[in-house]
Amino acid sequence: MNSFYDFIKNNKKNLITKYEIYLDVYERHLSKYKGKTVKIIEFGVNQGGSLNMWKEYFGEGTKIYGVDINPNCAKLAADNIEILIGDQEDRSFLKSVADTIGEVDIIVDDGGHSMRQQKNTFEEIFSCLKDDGVYICEDLHTSYWRRHGGGYKRRGTFIEYSKNFIDMLNAWNAKKYSRLKVSDFTKTVQSIHYYDSMIVLEKGKHEKIKTISTGEMMVDHYKIPKKNIFIRLWRAIFG
Ligand SMILES: C[S@@+](CC[C@H](N)C(=O)[O-])C[C@H]1O[C@@H](n2cnc3c(N)ncnc32)[C@H](O)[C@@H]1O
Repeated sequence: MNSFYDFIKNNKKNLITKYEIYLDVYERHLSKYKGKTVKIIEFGVNQGGSLNMWKEYFGEGTKIYGVDINPNCAKLAADNIEILIGDQEDRSFLKSVADTIGEVDIIVDDGGHSMRQQKNTFEEIFSCLKDDGVYICEDLHTSYWRRHGGGYKRRGTFIEYSKNFIDMLNAWNAKKYSRLKVSDFTKTVQSIHYYDSMIVLEKGKHEKIKTISTGEMMVDHYKIPKKNIFIRLWRAIFG
């Protein structure tokens, strides 16, 4: 199998349904693991189609954990595929999942897609990710859907929650704000990628940014003239 797209196109076994753009996103962020011995956990098993996809794409040595609330999914367990049954909203279940899986390379949340499920899963399972691991949460459009607890700029949606990741990533640059502290997240997350309905977090060592400067000055500096104080005041008040 060359690509995720190849897999879906040729799949005749367990049902799999994915938004097409996800396949490009997987390729972009997960191809580095191809042919390597990876450990992956996916929340949301359904018919087991994506479990087969991970196995075929990464290779036989891949260790896969599938988590689902549906006890019938247990029968999809196979060589190197372990199925854990429980509710991803339940923090005590998630803690037991974390104990079982230890460290993993990839975490994919394609479960029930409610706000609390996505948030609790992130908070309890993100720490299982290896230092260079990848976290993917899918179907973020539910953050805009009422029946999943969503709404535009509604407090508590996963989209609104994840916007804080942007501040956390930049905390080295905002030291004067006591509410924004450099955290483990700041030190271990290198990048955040938003796609339509999807967020991808890439872990990696993240220190305070440093400049690098080489070469010669070719142009004199330009002193930007200060604007008239009255104009600035007028603009500040009246926009
Ligand atoms: C979109 S399907 C997963 C599809 C699968 N990843 C694939 O691509 O083939 C979502 C799955 O999440 C499961 N699910 C729903 N709510 C859940 C919950 N609270 N905890 C765990 N799994 C849940 C459903 O039973 C369903 O099988």
